[in-house]
Amino acid sequence: MSDALKSDSLKTPRNVPRNVAPVRILKKPGARGADEQNPTPMGERRTACIRTFGCQMNVHDSDRMRRMILDAGYAEVQSYEEADLVILNTCYVRENAVDRVRGHLGELNRLRREGRVKKVALTGCIGASDESTDLKHQYGIDLVLGTHNTYELAEFIGLPTMMETYTPDLPGTEGERSAFVTIMTGCNYQCSYCIVPTVRGRMVCRPLENVVAEIEGLVASGTSYVTLLGQTVDAWRSEGRRFCDLLERVSEVAPRVWFTTSHPSNMEDRTLHLIGARDTIVKRLHLPVQSGSDRMLRVMHRGYKAERYRRKISVFREVVPDGTLSTDIIVGHPGETEEDHERTLKLVEACAFDSAYIFKFSPRKGTEAAELGGVVPPEVVQRRFLEVLRAVEQNAFARNQRKVGSIEEVYVRHGSTEDGKAIGETWSGHAVHVKTDARRGDYVTARIESAGPHVLYAGEPLG
Ligand code: 5AD
Ligand code: SF4
Repeated sequence: MSDALKSDSLKTPRNVPRNVAPVRILKKPGARGADEQNPTPMGERRTACIRTFGCQMNVHDSDRMRRMILDAGYAEVQSYEEADLVILNTCYVRENAVDRVRGHLGELNRLRREGRVKKVALTGCIGASDESTDLKHQYGIDLVLGTHNTYELAEFIGLPTMMETYTPDLPGTEGERSAFVTIMTGCNYQCSYCIVPTVRGRMVCRPLENVVAEIEGLVASGTSYVTLLGQTVDAWRSEGRRFCDLLERVSEVAPRVWFTTSHPSNMEDRTLHLIGARDTIVKRLHLPVQSGSDRMLRVMHRGYKAERYRRKISVFREVVPDGTLSTDIIVGHPGETEEDHERTLKLVEACAFDSAYIFKFSPRKGTEAAELGGVVPPEVVQRRFLEVLRAVEQNAFARNQRKVGSIEEVYVRHGSTEDGKAIGETWSGHAVHVKTDARRGDYVTARIESAGPHVLYAGEPLG
């Protein structure tokens, strides 16, 4: 799997909520209602396009913004050309993220000159960064919002001010077959390379009852798959309870549950045992390791050693033998030597990941690593990237091959494309292409006919 796969192109709105939940609205004196504002002078409905870059937290924030624009009476469209308002909800994790967004902003300015797009909003992690001031000025952006004041979009689009729209208390996407539920925001770690603590702030956890009540509501309105979200989801704690307690409760309420992203220092053995024991939990663990070298892990301030990570993995493999394991790896962090790189390759071999997101180090202004010496030359980074990629793919391919011939219950995540293939997921967390016209949220049972390094291919559903 290449780093392009975890790219900035999670194109938005595959899922427009069917039952848009009422939002908590605090009316400001004199604020005009949506209906007064949103039809154009000609009476046509205004349109908005949301483009999402980056991680699932951003996808989730976009869901919230989508609710606001729909509440404000906008129709959602998929292309810039059709949109009065374009919202770019951005990611700042890697440097080329800004370049990519610049490309979009340039294109939007051209459309603005042609009288098509009227307004542009920049939100998310780039919006929260220092660079947003320059971008606003350079591209004449109408609204810049960070990750903590997304609610200000409400006023901009003509809704009465919605306070606290961003607080973790507010429900996520409702009425969907699958829903993201944020259980914590922010991060208390200070990894050398990472901008997240700067743009997302420190950890804030939602109370357990609050999360469970939301999920009960979602399930009652048709949700069959809940993904618990947080930057360090397994660091969740509240009123003496820890992530494992929360996961256990959620797995009693939701028909299908997954969670991401975990931190190795917070991953408890009892959570791994719970994954193995509960039928409703998808047996897929995403546990970013970043490096296989203790020296680099120290430089990165990751707070664990490679051996401790490997021990966690051996517990996972033992209690969840059929499960899938994925990770994040950074190659070319400043100071990374050939020996450090070799240790990463050894760890990849030992853990036999089913997939990995491999990132070339990208210096983020404001992080410790951006100031460090020992910069690794780009051609060395490229070679190391390919070596790690090859090692991951060899393992993944071999592991996927073992699934050929097995009969699997597949949850359909995306309905069928033109070639009649839907994309689904097994309980072991494998991605499967299956020949069916079943709809999103359905289960089908099918035999795995072949396998590539990233995906399994199933035949027609049985029965
Ligand atoms: N350079 C490269 N990769 C990074 N990541 C975070 N910050 C950087 C950076 N500056 C990667 C980490 C993290 C994932 C979401 O992105 O591997 O786990
Ligand atoms: Fe970033 Fe580290 Fe926090 Fe993950 S744990 S969000 S890599 S600071």
